[in-house]
Amino acid sequence: MNSINSSASKTYQSINFSDKFKLFSELWSQKVIAEMNDYQFKVARLQGDFIWHEHADTDESFIILEGELRIDFRDGHVLISAGEMYVVPKGVEHKPSAADEVKLLLIEPRGVVNTGAEGGERTSELDVWI
Ligand code: NI
Repeated sequence: MNSINSSASKTYQSINFSDKFKLFSELWSQKVIAEMNDYQFKVARLQGDFIWHEHADTDESFIILEGELRIDFRDGHVLISAGEMYVVPKGVEHKPSAADEVKLLLIEPRGVVNTGAEGGERTSELDVWI
């Protein structure tokens, strides 16, 4: 008897980005979908202008799933399309914006506030899982 195949099998569930985006519609609200060590994978919908801010203690990664995100820096900007990613180094001031709605995945250490030290109405609640 083959012990590898004989036991009842457990169901392992993959995480589907499209399914996660069906669970919320609000803009600028980060939703945690997974963790890896001390890092969180968060999805969000963005449209319009974010605020200038920086993250003193961590880099920030943007992985674009749908749409095109613009990130302005004090000395230039980058356009990130679906299927592309960009890492903003820690301590660098940046301002994301999107003319049309963007769906993206962020990978950051647990506890990072999206507006840095600036606060304000665009600040997303932490540790909201979907
Ligand atoms: Ni940021």
